[in-house]
This record gives sequence, C-alpha cells and structure tokens, in this order.
Amino acid sequence: MINPFKSLKQKVFPSYLGVDIGTTNIKVVEVKQGEQLPRVVNYGFLQSSGHLLRSNDVIQTSSLKLFSEHATDLLKAITAKMKVGTTTVLASLPIFSVFTSVFEFPEMPENELEKSLTFQARQYIPLPISEVAIDWMKVGEREDDKGFRYQQVLLISVPQELIKKYQLIFKGAGLNLKLLEIESLSLGRSLIGSDQTPTIVVDIGSRSSSVAFFDKGQFKFASQSDYAGSSLTQALASSLNVNPLRAEELKKEHGIINIGPNYELSTIMLPFLDVIISEVKKAQFNYQSQFFAPHNTERLIITGGGANLAGIEKYFEKEFNFPVIKASPFTKFEYPSVVEPLLSELNPTLTVALGLALKEFI
Ligand SMILES: Nc1ncnc2c1ncn2[C@@H]1O[C@H](COP(=O)(O)OP(=O)(O)OP(=O)(O)O)[C@@H](O)[C@H]1O
Ligand SMILES: [Mg+2]
Repeated sequence: MINPFKSLKQKVFPSYLGVDIGTTNIKVVEVKQGEQLPRVVNYGFLQSSGHLLRSNDVIQTSSLKLFSEHATDLLKAITAKMKVGTTTVLASLPIFSVFTSVFEFPEMPENELEKSLTFQARQYIPLPISEVAIDWMKVGEREDDKGFRYQQVLLISVPQELIKKYQLIFKGAGLNLKLLEIESLSLGRSLIGSDQTPTIVVDIGSRSSSVAFFDKGQFKFASQSDYAGSSLTQALASSLNVNPLRAEELKKEHGIINIGPNYELSTIMLPFLDVIISEVKKAQFNYQSQFFAPHNTERLIITGGGANLAGIEKYFEKEFNFPVIKASPFTKFEYPSVVEPLLSELNPTLTVALGLALKEFI
C-alpha cells in the first residue's frame, strides 16, 4: 500500500548540524529522524593541516584565541562540499575556553540558589561578571552524618566575547547557531546517555585533551590538558629528525604496537602518553576531592582523534584497574551502510558533533 504520509514525513522532519570546532579540525554531522533512531545523513571534516608545519596555524588555541575568519572559511568549505540540507547548527565550546567549578550549597529554593551562585561566581571568575554568561546545573547531592542535605552545583561561565565570536563565525558561514554547549555535555550525550556506570571520558584531540567524569548518567566534572595528539607527532618529528607531516604518517601507521622495528617509535611516544595518563589521574584526584565519596570509576572511554592511535586502549588499561574502551557513538544512530567500514575511525572523531546533533532527538 502506498503510504500517503511518507513524503510528508520526510518534509516534516527537519535535519540539524552538529558542529565541533577543535584546535585543528572542524567536524560537521547532519542528522535527521530515522526509522527507529536518529539517522546520520551526512558528515564532513576539515583539518587545518598547516598546523603540523607552523604551530600558529590552528583554528583555536587553548589560551582562548579563536581565529574567526579561518573557522568561517573552513566551515563554508565543508558545508558546501557536504551540500547540507539545513542551516540550523548546534555547536560546542571546548572545555579550555570556559571556567567551570563545583560549589556545594545547603538545600534551598531555586531563586535563592541563583543569588548565592551569582555571589560565588563574582569571587571565582577571573573576569568582570558583566563580561561572562553564566550557566549552572545540579550535579549531585549528599546528606551529612547529622542529616543535613547539600546540593552540588556546577557553575559554567563563558566569556561573552567568545559567544559573540561563535555567533559571527556561523553567521559568516551562512548558518544559524541554535545552541552552544560545553563539549563535555555533548560527549556525555553520545557516549553515556542514561547509563548509570561511573565513567571517565578522555578526549584526546590535537592540541588539547579533556577528562570528564560521569555518574548515574550525569555529567559531574571536567578538566583539560595541553598534552594531546600533536605532542606525540612533535616528539616523533624531533627524535627521528623527520618533518612533522611524515611524523604524523608514522604515528597513524604504526601507533604504539611494540613489535619488531616499530619498537623505537613506541618508546618515543610513550612518555607523552604517560603524561596524558598522569593528567587523567590528577583529574581523578581533583574529582574525588570535590565530590564527597564519589562512586569508584568502573570504566574509561577514550575518544577524540587520538583514540585512533593503534594500541592505546591496551596501554591505558595497564594503568587503570577498570576496562578501557574506544568510543562508539554511532551505535545511537542509523547511518548509510557505506559508512560501516569507516566506523572504527569515525567513531572517536565525530563523538562531540554527534552528541550535539543528538540533543534534538531526545
Ligand atoms: N590513526 C590515528 N593514530 C594516531 N593519532 C591519530 C589518528 N587519527 C587521528 N589522530 C590524531 O588525532 C588528533 C586530532 O584529533 P581531533 O580531531 O579530536 O582534534 P581536535 O578536535 O581538532 O582537537 P582538540 O580536541 O584539541 O580541539 C591529531 O593529533 C591526529 O594526529
Ligand atoms: Mg576535539
């Protein structure tokens, strides 16, 4: 039987773009309602590959600089190539560009909580309060031994100037920015959802890595490090005296699988992975000291392009007493079958962009 509503349905369900502007890559996914799950209908990413040769040729740096024109040009190029079917964008802010802190308050009505938070924010944020946008979310609660109840609140503040920059970047590329959120929330949506397991998500990007903690399906805490994928590339380039583009190839080709002639490559890269691991442990310590008796972590999910380093899960697993797994956000989506063979590499790369688009479907 012909279903008269089928074509109508296709028109009625709009699509959305999830856009992740990293330090050296921009990733875009287009998602619309599928038969059972949201469906990834299109994706694209562009790297500012010049960053390997010239360290200043990046899209943004962790010292809060976002190079708007560069980002607009790259976005225009990707969306034109993808022939996107919508202009509506959900985008993420890297964790290094926002200030986050956890505060504990006695239980109180929401309007009083807001006043107390604004007061706390003034003490804590290193910018005048008029220059930041403040958001907050409840991330936990506890009862002390006398029966007093406390709530833990995560305060997120974003420089207004940065928000304006993002608005201009998207406007310049002919897109409508519908939502900006910190990338840890997008990671949580695509990797954790309502899963209750206490989890650490480590996102190893190009110039920065982030470590985010989740428990009972809720985002709790995040921190960042400047050690990431390009630390490994630079180490190879200088130790082997090869150009960074060649070093990048060697890294992607051999990873840290310690066999035969590749042994030397691993020994050059491992000290930098060790630094990332120690940053994860430091973040774990900070998380534990900010939250009263948090549940023990039961798994670690690695994501970001750096998670594609061959052998990385095994290496991480030796350092932690819980399973380490590579991100697989595509399990929450339908997608064209041609994507199947690429999934292993796309999964960690598109985790943030997919989590953004997913927001429209839950
Ligand atoms: N197969 C691979 N093996 C090892 N490293 C890889 C592989 N594929 C990509 N990478 C690394 O992943 C990094 C890019 O990751 P990603 O795309 O997540 O960065 P980004 O989002 O631009 O950066 P950031 O998150 O720091 O802003 C690069 O350092 C790249 O070398
Ligand atoms: Mg990234």
